[in-house]
Amino acid sequence: MKIVILGLGYVGFTAGCCIASEGHTVIGIDPNRKKVDAINAGTAPIVEPKVQDMLQAALRDGLFAADTAIGDHLSGADLAIVCVGTPSAPDGAHDMRYIADVSVQIADAMKRRPDSKLTVAYRSTIRPGTIEELIQPIFAAALGADSPDRVALVYNPEFLREGSAVQDYFEPPKIVIGTSDGKPNKAMQSLNQNIDAPTFLVGFREAEITKFVDNTWHAVKVAFANEIGRVCLNAGISAQKVHEIFVSDTKLNISPYYTRPGGAFGGSCLPKDVRALQHIGADIGANLHLVDSLIRSNEAHKHALFEYAAGGLPAGARILIAGLAFKAGTDDLRESPNVDLARKLLAAGFTVEIFDPAIEADMLIGANLGYAYSRLPTLERLLIAKADAETRSYDRVLATNATIKLLNLPDSLSILDIGTLK
Ligand SMILES: NC(=O)c1ccc[n+]([C@@H]2O[C@H](COP(=O)([O-])OP(=O)(O)OC[C@H]3O[C@@H](n4cnc5c(N)ncnc54)[C@H](O)[C@@H]3O)[C@@H](O)[C@H]2O)c1
Repeated sequence: MKIVILGLGYVGFTAGCCIASEGHTVIGIDPNRKKVDAINAGTAPIVEPKVQDMLQAALRDGLFAADTAIGDHLSGADLAIVCVGTPSAPDGAHDMRYIADVSVQIADAMKRRPDSKLTVAYRSTIRPGTIEELIQPIFAAALGADSPDRVALVYNPEFLREGSAVQDYFEPPKIVIGTSDGKPNKAMQSLNQNIDAPTFLVGFREAEITKFVDNTWHAVKVAFANEIGRVCLNAGISAQKVHEIFVSDTKLNISPYYTRPGGAFGGSCLPKDVRALQHIGADIGANLHLVDSLIRSNEAHKHALFEYAAGGLPAGARILIAGLAFKAGTDDLRESPNVDLARKLLAAGFTVEIFDPAIEADMLIGANLGYAYSRLPTLERLLIAKADAETRSYDRVLATNATIKLLNLPDSLSILDIGTLK
């Protein structure tokens, strides 16, 4: 393929070297004359393992050339890959001026060649909605009604890490291809044919948000590790040993567990122990900002779940909650987010009934009894039998945990799965 790369920074230049090493012809465009001259003279504009040798091999084979402007370089191209920078703007948002500029330049170049068709893949990190709200309109303004037929837009986030950029290009953790219809794009399939990685074909917005989710998660991990490190340091505990124990648990700690969006955390241990770690951190001066934010974040989520559960219902609507305990098949109501959900729905004036066969109001004892009754004093009257849940009419059924599977409900009922935020 002939591939034009726009933006020859860490991402674009590395991609150029890797793509040329697979036998494709690469034209790199960057307004920075110094970078362009250096590349054409065989000097990598970045310091990164392997790229210097790869550039020289590509130049020897006539597979890599750089220029400062698009000119006619899109002529005969199969694919354009945009790798311009998206630095922070003063308000913290991404500064999109380079994305807008480069899109206008590609669109203008295509306007000059009315029969041309091209896949344009954006690799820069851009906020969700950028393709649909900024880039598509730029192409539509230049190319008119033909734009969707002539330009196949793709969003393809980049996962390389500086220092291992070449290896990461060929062995990425995943490939994410965002298109208008979530279907494969031929040029991208050819580009990635030698790369073996889990591949996700999705819409633009799911692809666009991927990098934000990944990078923020990485930041959360580092901040968490360092907060635990500070606790250990101040308490005379070996942070290294603690880390070793923590990462050895690939069942619950380093695993997909506890990562699915949906229910708030609750139960008899998590909230209690998080609060206690907050106390320990404050007591020994460890300043745990991330840990301190967890309970507030969880309370905010509980309220968001209530609004989600009640959304669009008329005043006084009838609601069935399937599952009151934190986990299906248990009767532990301590800090169950579903108890708070029922309380908020009742306070908002809805008629609430609850089906949870593991809960018998007169069997609750101790802290379990106290928590349930202090929030739901009418609990005994709210709990109903299976036969009643299956035959009464409701405006909405809330599936809070696996308890819903025990019920045979008519298809006509509106069931909202608030455990998964679909
Ligand atoms: N650096 C990384 O490790 C990394 C990893 C993944 C994703 N990303 C994302 O990839 C994007 C690029 O990152 P980078 O580190 O390569 O940036 P960079 O600043 O190193 O390079 C961007 C290049 O784009 C050029 N440019 C600006 N306007 C242009 C135009 N109109 N036409 C052609 N080139 C133009 C600039 O001159 C510059 O050389 C960013 O959105 C970044 O967030 C970076």
